[in-house]
Amino acid sequence: MGSYAEEPEFKTITIQKLHPTFAAEVEGVDFQNLSDEQFNEILAAMAKYGVCIFRNTGLDDASHIEFSRRIGDLDTMKRYMVDGRRPRYRYYELFDAGNIDDQGGVLDPNSPRAHYGKGNALFHVDSSFNPRRASFSLLRAVEIPPPGNGGNTDFADSRTAWDELDPEFQKELLEKDYVVHHSIAQSRKLGSPEFFKDLDPTNGGVMARHRLIQVHEPSGRRNIYIAAHSHHIEGIPKEESDALIKKLLDHITQKKYTTSVEWKNPSDMIIWDNRCTLHRANGGAFEGKYKRDLRRTTVHDDSSTAWGLNEVEDTENWVVNHDATRAAGQTK
Ligand code: OGA
Ligand code: MN
Repeated sequence: MGSYAEEPEFKTITIQKLHPTFAAEVEGVDFQNLSDEQFNEILAAMAKYGVCIFRNTGLDDASHIEFSRRIGDLDTMKRYMVDGRRPRYRYYELFDAGNIDDQGGVLDPNSPRAHYGKGNALFHVDSSFNPRRASFSLLRAVEIPPPGNGGNTDFADSRTAWDELDPEFQKELLEKDYVVHHSIAQSRKLGSPEFFKDLDPTNGGVMARHRLIQVHEPSGRRNIYIAAHSHHIEGIPKEESDALIKKLLDHITQKKYTTSVEWKNPSDMIIWDNRCTLHRANGGAFEGKYKRDLRRTTVHDDSSTAWGLNEVEDTENWVVNHDATRAAGQTK
């Protein structure tokens, strides 16, 4: 086992560990009247556990956004709005991770939008395909399927996965200091290869570049920053790059580094740190049958490596690879 951050002393919250090395359920939070002390304890718990689950928060769209803003600047849907596509919610700060169709019913699993969503069933981090990556994602349940119908969210601990890599391999990775190119088109294609067979991630212009091995600044621990969006590693042959990406993803997503979180009540919320964990949507019998309405806010990273090797620019105007969006007919 590697070394873990000191156990912070919590006065206002209680921690129930979900896994030996990361992820915890946090009890005792009063989201309606959150003191600075409690807010800071939540951030300290996030630094240590990487994933925190809050049950029955009582948050709605507006208060979810307000709480998220207290953490940092929020990403918005604006960059994803192509060809006159209209936002799903009143608030640009909310990302749709659910299966509600445009009429308010259950999304058809064979619909283009469902195919687009399949990429989320692969272990990933949010927004590695953006020049400024995301720190925290805050995902809140609005409506969940009846118990026993699946729909969990799974997480992987990429800090401990780094700690437990063979020391020789660690040394090699640090010396090479690889840079990874990320594209949303890559994960869409992997998630539904047949549907996206004509989608070419290399066609969509410049990809986002972030270093593979980075220090997670809130904990001071090293992390492997990789995801289903990872298209290739700079400067090495494609086969070598494919093999290395697969090797690392297979390593991080081993059962021993993962945990699965069940959604139990509307207004449950999970916060994860994309800089030290990976996550995926775990499917299930609910698909095509029951509503799973989950909404996410995404906080722009403000650590020193937030922008990776990308141009620092107006984040609002950065455009994601729209080919995937268009191929899925997501233009309205
Ligand atoms: C997300 C995501 C997983 C899920 O919102 O970024 O990947 O379980 N969600 O819906
Ligand atoms: Mn995600």
